[in-house]
Amino acid sequence: MMRRMAGLGPNEALIGRAGSRSALDTPALIVDLDALERNIAAMAAAARAAGVALRPHAKTHKSVRIAGMQVAAGALGICCATLGEAEAMVDGGLPGVHITSPVVTPPKVARLMALHRRAERGLSVVVDHPENLAALDRAAGAAGRPLAVLVDFSAGHGRTGCADEAELVRLARAAIAAEGLEFRGIQSYSGNLQHIARRAERRARTLAELERLGGMLRRLRDSGIAVPIVSGAGTGTFDLDPEARILTELQVGSYIFMDVDYLRALKDGRNAAPFETALFVATSVVSVNAPGYVTCDAGLKCFATDGPAPEPAAGAPPGSRYEFFGDEHGKLILPPGAPRPPLGAILECVTPHCDPTVNLHDVYHLVRGDTLVDIWPVDARGKR
Ligand SMILES: Cc1ncc(COP(=O)(O)O)c(C=O)c1O
Repeated sequence: MMRRMAGLGPNEALIGRAGSRSALDTPALIVDLDALERNIAAMAAAARAAGVALRPHAKTHKSVRIAGMQVAAGALGICCATLGEAEAMVDGGLPGVHITSPVVTPPKVARLMALHRRAERGLSVVVDHPENLAALDRAAGAAGRPLAVLVDFSAGHGRTGCADEAELVRLARAAIAAEGLEFRGIQSYSGNLQHIARRAERRARTLAELERLGGMLRRLRDSGIAVPIVSGAGTGTFDLDPEARILTELQVGSYIFMDVDYLRALKDGRNAAPFETALFVATSVVSVNAPGYVTCDAGLKCFATDGPAPEPAAGAPPGSRYEFFGDEHGKLILPPGAPRPPLGAILECVTPHCDPTVNLHDVYHLVRGDTLVDIWPVDARGKR
């Protein structure tokens, strides 16, 4: 058992008390542990069946314990978006930590090297520019230990990654030649494809990008460059990328929680989404004096606002909608004739976009059925 940390918030005394889910002090970030476990098992089974490895992305949960569950289910490591997340994961004892964004500025390179020195179970980072590659080579040389790098390509996305194939080859060759670095392979994450609402379009565009990537990899390998790792994919394409047999591992993140946006996209073309909602925000009714709606205590500071509206789930009359009503408040709009939830009633909402919603909360409230069973910190909350 891991040690409980201090600062678990106002609900700590409710842990283990039957029925405590509906007595939580709100706003509260809730994880349905049964659904989380099923999602982790479902992705592990899908990857095994497809013959591809998993290095799930911790940018979604920022939690050492949840990363540990993913590794226990067979993942070979954990991806991180920020150096701060990687510090939390390495120091939490996780293996195979890979940083999926370039680490560039001198203070961050210094922190990366300090982490590299203590990362006994493996650390790698992407690189997409010769200057950054040279800086990492110098720093890792001084650290006396080669640093593993993946060259970032990011086909079609354009956020990070080499601009073209010629640059990819140049960087791969430079990484192989660099004494302080160990070239491990290529990262190609297509963030622009993950949330395409229609599965058929998502599939066609994913396979087209992978065909292009596959051609580049063939040319790299034909020129004598070994590429052991090809890392990419997200929840939206988890079952499409393996069709092309090009990626060696999937960096999937959101599947563990599922949000409003991903539930819609992954339902398309299927009877049900392959993963369940495991993340909710619980909110209390704090004002009932206006006609047609009640006011709740979860607003802009509790939900990410870059996606669709939060979707009322448990505790809200069917057909009700949630709208933001300011920093601290939300508006539960009731359908005509629906009973008005009383003052103090607690309802739960599916989150619009899971990753940035998690980052607004200090702790997860783990529930099984209607009982709070534990509280876990969001370890890397706000860690850059
Ligand atoms: C580089 C990278 N890989 C993987 C993922 C995981 O994607 P998802 O949460 O859609 O599964 C992300 C998410 O933004 C990402 O930025």
